Amino acid sequence: MLSLTWLACALVPLAPLVVARPPVGLLAPPKQPPFGFEGSQAAARLATAPPVPNFFDQLLDHSNPSFGTFPQRFWFYDGYYEEGGPIVLFNAGEEDASGYTGYLQNGTIVGSIAYATGGATIVLEHRYWGASIPFADYSTANMKYFTIENSVQDFAYFAQNVVLPFSNGTNTTMAPPNVPWIVTGGSYPGALAAYVKQTFPDLFYAAYASSAPVQAISDFYGYFIPVANGAPQNCSTDMKAVITHWDSVMSNGTKEEQLELMSVFGLQNVTHSVDAASALQTVPWSWQNLGPAVGAHQEFFDFCDTLEVKDGVAAGPEGYGLEYALAQWGAWQLATNQQSCGDAFAGDSCWGTFDPDASFYTNVDPSNTYRPWMWLICTDLGFWQNGDPTAPSIVSKQVTVEYWERQCPLWFPAEDGVSVPQLAPVAHVNKLYDGWNINQDHLLFVNGEFDPWRSGSVSSELPSAPKRQSTPQQPILLVKTGVHCWDMITSTAQANPNTRVVFDQVVAQMVEWMKEWNMVPARPPQN
Ligand SMILES: *[C@@H]1O[C@H](CO)[C@@H](O)[C@H](O)[C@H]1NC(C)=O
Ligand SMILES: *[C@@H]1O[C@H](CO)[C@@H](O)[C@H](O)[C@H]1NC(C)=O
Ligand SMILES: *[C@@H]1O[C@H](CO)[C@@H](O)[C@H](O)[C@H]1NC(C)=O
Ligand SMILES: *[C@@H]1O[C@H](CO)[C@@H](O)[C@H](O)[C@H]1NC(C)=O
Ligand SMILES: *[C@@H]1O[C@H](CO)[C@@H](O)[C@H](O)[C@H]1NC(C)=O
Ligand SMILES: *[C@@H]1O[C@H](CO)[C@@H](O)[C@H](O)[C@H]1NC(C)=O
Repeated sequence: MLSLTWLACALVPLAPLVVARPPVGLLAPPKQPPFGFEGSQAAARLATAPPVPNFFDQLLDHSNPSFGTFPQRFWFYDGYYEEGGPIVLFNAGEEDASGYTGYLQNGTIVGSIAYATGGATIVLEHRYWGASIPFADYSTANMKYFTIENSVQDFAYFAQNVVLPFSNGTNTTMAPPNVPWIVTGGSYPGALAAYVKQTFPDLFYAAYASSAPVQAISDFYGYFIPVANGAPQNCSTDMKAVITHWDSVMSNGTKEEQLELMSVFGLQNVTHSVDAASALQTVPWSWQNLGPAVGAHQEFFDFCDTLEVKDGVAAGPEGYGLEYALAQWGAWQLATNQQSCGDAFAGDSCWGTFDPDASFYTNVDPSNTYRPWMWLICTDLGFWQNGDPTAPSIVSKQVTVEYWERQCPLWFPAEDGVSVPQLAPVAHVNKLYDGWNINQDHLLFVNGEFDPWRSGSVSSELPSAPKRQSTPQQPILLVKTGVHCWDMITSTAQANPNTRVVFDQVVAQMVEWMKEWNMVPARPPQN
């Protein structure tokens, strides 16, 4: 959930030379809470036992089964299961899934669906992460089988073939469509859940997709529109003033004026001003980390207080203006440079993207977990988070699709005939899965009013997006004032009135659909 900028850099503040700057915000759902068995009798017995990982022989390439299999990791929990209940499948997305086993239980919305419907839960690790990496490293040639199509097909092959280890000692398949499967996910895995439901409507009886950017978008400046809308008005007004000034100086100023402006932010040692412009995305990206129950004193709001509170007096909606905002944002960035890079005047070693020998480009070790995500966006999804070329923005117009796409071949130099395309072919993905026009019965969407990813979702307000209506068959729920994946963790969702309403609606809807299932006679096996 943290943008990688912050996560990666904050963890290694004293090693500026190895700092990998995150190209774009990560799309993983929240991890907490940890797996725990509070409550029931069984709970007490199992309290100390962490969930046991299982491995499934997944096809490496679904269009060429003869290429063999790789082990895909999953965790299974039947503590809520009742005969005839659904199998609730959760995919953790672009990370090692071992931090997500809490999703097996009712501390999350996924476990709560199972709890309410007598379901069993599965956390499935995404191919190419954690213990589900088919190869020893992430060299370009090894990335060949990481496509969105293979990732979607993984769900169907898994559901049809996995042998589930029930706690009564029986190992058995629970293959759809005779057993109801509910596919779930948040963020990128939310989009995957929708793609899976769209591709295999008969195998997956229902789906829940939270904060799901289903429409792949190359020039994704729309990411920052909900941020500017959700931020205090004075703060976004002043941020836009600073960025407009930045863009004006960078395109029309003298070299001296440009260096002087960069030095306000401690970025005068950065060779390419576009890298400095991208360093200023740190604050806008941090919006995505806002949680439903944390309140003030989160990074983004602290930043706004720095710009908008002077001698204890808050600015009106018009803000304190360019001069003050520039000085304050500059000081904030100096502190960010210090914290993220170990140097208040950090240069290319922290913010540069032009050196092909930078370690984040060349490190193919599986510990470089950003790498497969980069592969996915370079080869399929795009989602480049840019300045808005059409209107004043809180992100510089210097940051463009070309800025990011230039990096793709640096991450993945061609190898054994495998390479990245010139431009992520997002139209292909949207054609395969219907993007904004996904239409399936028993597919439930939840989005946050101020979620940056809303712009790629079925609740998008971008001018090019269709205005989708919620229907009883395909409900589209919106968390008022919500940000990213706010409905997924039970305790924080329940603590926020707007989120609680939606959380309860999701669970009630799944209960309703399971009642419908039980009225339907047994389905004929599908071949
Ligand atoms: C979660 O499940 C436990 C049993 O494991 C139960 O005691 C508890 O009431 C459930 N919590 C909610 C909020 O449903
Ligand atoms: C164990 O549980 C599974 C799932 O409910 C069931 O199919 C199986 O028959 C049970 N086995 C025994 C030995 O009770
Ligand atoms: C079920 O599978 C587990 C793990 O493979 C194995 O240890 C166990 O013996 C199996 N149980 C039965 C009844 O076959
Ligand atoms: C102005 O900024 C302060 C501090 O961030 C914020 O609390 C307040 O809501 C803002 N007011 C307006 C009208 O934008
Ligand atoms: C640069 O100057 C030109 C000519 O005055 C103007 O049209 C353009 O908008 C300026 N660019 C920026 C980003 O301010
Ligand atoms: C970066 O900039 C600061 C301030 O101008 C300067 O003192 C320092 O030597 C520079 N560092 C590098 C590595 O160029």
